[in-house]
Amino acid sequence: MSAFPKDFLWGAASAAYQVEGAYDTDGKGLSIWDTFSHLPGTTYQGTNGDVAVDHYHRFREDVALMAEMGMKSYRFSISWPRLLPTGRGEVNPAGVKFYSDLIDALLEHNIEPMITLYHWDLPQALQDEGGWEARSTTDAFEEYARLCYESYGDRVKLWSTFNETVCFIGFGYITGAHPPGVQEPARAIQACHHVFVAHAKAVAAFRSSGIDGKIGFVNVLQTHTPLSNSVEDMAAFNLAEGIFTHWLYDPVLKGEYPAELLEQAQAIWGVPTFAPGDDELLRSNICDFIGLNYYKRETIAANNQDTHLKINTTGQKGAGHQQGNEFGFKGLFKFVRNPNGVYTDWDWEIYPQGLTEGIMNIKARYGDIPIYITENGLGAKDPIIDGEVVDDDRIDYLNQHIGAIEDAIKQGADVRGYYPWSFIDLLSWLNGFQKQYGFVYVDHQKQLARQRKKSFFWYQKVIESNGEQR
Ligand code: BG6
Repeated sequence: MSAFPKDFLWGAASAAYQVEGAYDTDGKGLSIWDTFSHLPGTTYQGTNGDVAVDHYHRFREDVALMAEMGMKSYRFSISWPRLLPTGRGEVNPAGVKFYSDLIDALLEHNIEPMITLYHWDLPQALQDEGGWEARSTTDAFEEYARLCYESYGDRVKLWSTFNETVCFIGFGYITGAHPPGVQEPARAIQACHHVFVAHAKAVAAFRSSGIDGKIGFVNVLQTHTPLSNSVEDMAAFNLAEGIFTHWLYDPVLKGEYPAELLEQAQAIWGVPTFAPGDDELLRSNICDFIGLNYYKRETIAANNQDTHLKINTTGQKGAGHQQGNEFGFKGLFKFVRNPNGVYTDWDWEIYPQGLTEGIMNIKARYGDIPIYITENGLGAKDPIIDGEVVDDDRIDYLNQHIGAIEDAIKQGADVRGYYPWSFIDLLSWLNGFQKQYGFVYVDHQKQLARQRKKSFFWYQKVIESNGEQR
């Protein structure tokens, strides 16, 4: 018998911008990604989500495939500017209808919808007013969340507010690789604070809406390891833990920032600044559950130099590990290649035990919070042999990570669902369509025809046997 509970949600995940396409169809407004991806040099070979994999027009076909695979739940995000083209005010009825039809189609197949309200596609109109740096965006987010609750709350029980603050704030305001392309830590810290405030307002609105459901937050589960046990590397490791875990999880799971780091940030940068009532708002709107996205481990070392990160977006193994190409902050820490690590072609370390360790760390710090593994997967260029997509490496990766979740459950963690990334091959924000993650292949040479991969049939058995047959 596997350790997975009977009602465990075997699912898969996606995000609006990466699958839907129809970027300006039926009254949708532009998002910051629609704008940013059209600027020269921002994405791999100029790829964008204008068409993506056209899920907007093919969702019924896609849901039928999900049902055939046996999925019990589907995590997807709503495109804010599809519902509210300028971010607030006038509602786009065609947008509201699209997600309503998608939800009905899922429920007809007994697939439980899990909605992410924000997976990075901020309405461009709100960015023009300051985006997450503007306090007013938190009110617009609450208005948007309320519209979603009113429109779908009768049918959807599982909700999360934000996906991966570390990515859209970190890349958006520190490395500048995502919109709005800023490189100023102080601006990142204040924008991030507004995200926590927006989250808390949306949680409060959810609880007063009377919806019979649960609401959470989705974060990257960043398992760290120090490069060595030297005093310097250990100090760097502790700091990385503080920033990437405590800073990003405490406000939504404890209702407050880690005190020491908060003091340091305010002393160095003068931010975050709190509006009256923010403390209480955070404290009284703690999540019902936490969603964890786990792909890789990061190895941390002390750092005395300036670091310059150029992400490997080509899939040429080693491109991300060239001399001087590291992410970090001078005097604090940096991410380095682990000499014992096994890496993907995009230089992401494959380390399944990190998922068990990470889950147990969350449990140790935050207690018995329900957990969903809301993303996990292998980005690869899948081999096609005699017309079949033979993605054995993906099967191996997922198999090991399912084992890691099972270990955590055996150790007492309350893990309730697993959503591999992704159901279908989709657009990677910076890596185009060549970095494949799905159970379903999309043939861009044949009008985006769908094809089941080897992993599709494998996952079907995993689900059928509740994790026993792998
Ligand atoms: C997560 C995001 O960070 O990682 C997804 O939530 C993303 O949207 C996934 O696609 C994989 O990242 P990448 O860069 O390989 O596409």
